[in-house]
Amino acid sequence: MEETAAPHPNKSMPESVETDSAYTTGKRRWTDEDELEADSDTDSDEISIKSTKSFEAQNIEYVLENGRRYCNDTYFMPNDEAEQTRLNITHQICRILFDGKLTNVSLAKKSPRILDIGAGTGDWAIEMSAEYPDATIIATDIGIFDNGLGSTIELPNVSFQLDDARDEWTYHEPFDLIHLRGLAGAFSDWPSLYKQAFRHLAPGGYIEIIDADPAADSVAFPDSGDSYLSIFASAMRSAAEAAGHPRDLCHLNPSVLSAPGFIDVRVKERTVPVGLWPTDAREKTLGKMVLIALLEGVEAYSLRQLTATGNWTAEGVRDLCEKVKMEFLTAGKMTCVVKTVTARKPFVRSMMRKNDMLQKLMQLDDETKAQEV
Ligand SMILES: C[S@@+](CC[C@H](N)C(=O)[O-])C[C@H]1O[C@@H](n2cnc3c(N)ncnc32)[C@H](O)[C@@H]1O
Repeated sequence: MEETAAPHPNKSMPESVETDSAYTTGKRRWTDEDELEADSDTDSDEISIKSTKSFEAQNIEYVLENGRRYCNDTYFMPNDEAEQTRLNITHQICRILFDGKLTNVSLAKKSPRILDIGAGTGDWAIEMSAEYPDATIIATDIGIFDNGLGSTIELPNVSFQLDDARDEWTYHEPFDLIHLRGLAGAFSDWPSLYKQAFRHLAPGGYIEIIDADPAADSVAFPDSGDSYLSIFASAMRSAAEAAGHPRDLCHLNPSVLSAPGFIDVRVKERTVPVGLWPTDAREKTLGKMVLIALLEGVEAYSLRQLTATGNWTAEGVRDLCEKVKMEFLTAGKMTCVVKTVTARKPFVRSMMRKNDMLQKLMQLDDETKAQEV
């Protein structure tokens, strides 16, 4: 992971050439026809096309599978247009939820350095760049998005970089905030990710993690214990467990953050309404938006995860998704729990002592100068 701004993917995006390796793995070049086919074919589970779009300079491939587009062969969430829209909506939900704020930590520095891991559509990083024009923001992802890593818009203080957060981080300067949102299920080894984050934070710097996942029982409604939703959630959990990327929210447990040395670990759980049942106008808006995001998310969360087990067909998954969606539409007071964790790296004692001494020396110097005048 190089700190320098990565070459802009779209700028060096060549017309991809079918490669032998892509061909032999049964993948083929993603063409405009594929795009059309994907658009018109999302309901056809029979066809499990695997196509790739290869940005040769960055060696990026898109994989088309069961009518959804993915950034690689393994990460379970799609990155196609429908998913990008869902991410745009969830970003707006978070803004309402946090009373318009983009982060739950207070950034004291005038020019903070910020790292957004798994930036997706880049909404958060882009809006942070407007709110903190003096900040330096690095937004990373393993996939290309229309407005994130794949955008042609250049912002002076945001650098979108293609980076896998599981790799060794090689940033040269520490960050004041490391932000991770919606990454439940992305990593098998959260402790080692947190260790890297700790190492790459400045003393006093923050980490902020935000997650909600229906697979982790975040969503509930009266009698949801005995529902298609519970079948859906437990199927996803066992599939994720088998894949070695647990779909739970254990990475938000304070002990996991304290282990590498984080202090001031604060967990906030917000129970958000889902649907039109709230009477309060703000809650109703929130409920409507969360319902839309969930209806769109049901398939996104599960299709690849479940079909990868070999125990589910795409048709079977879609059938279950329809039943879950129907429950969502008819459920009474449905809610969704969103969890936020913030923690900080302690200030180093010796550094504080050094600063104290430096300040005393400067004070002495000033006093001596004053006496000399
Ligand atoms: C559900 S999306 C959330 C996007 C964004 N953080 C947001 O809140 O809108 C998860 C993102 O994490 C990215 N991701 C998954 N695994 C990753 C990894 N190992 N390194 C970096 N990004 C990753 C995915 O490509 C995807 O864009």
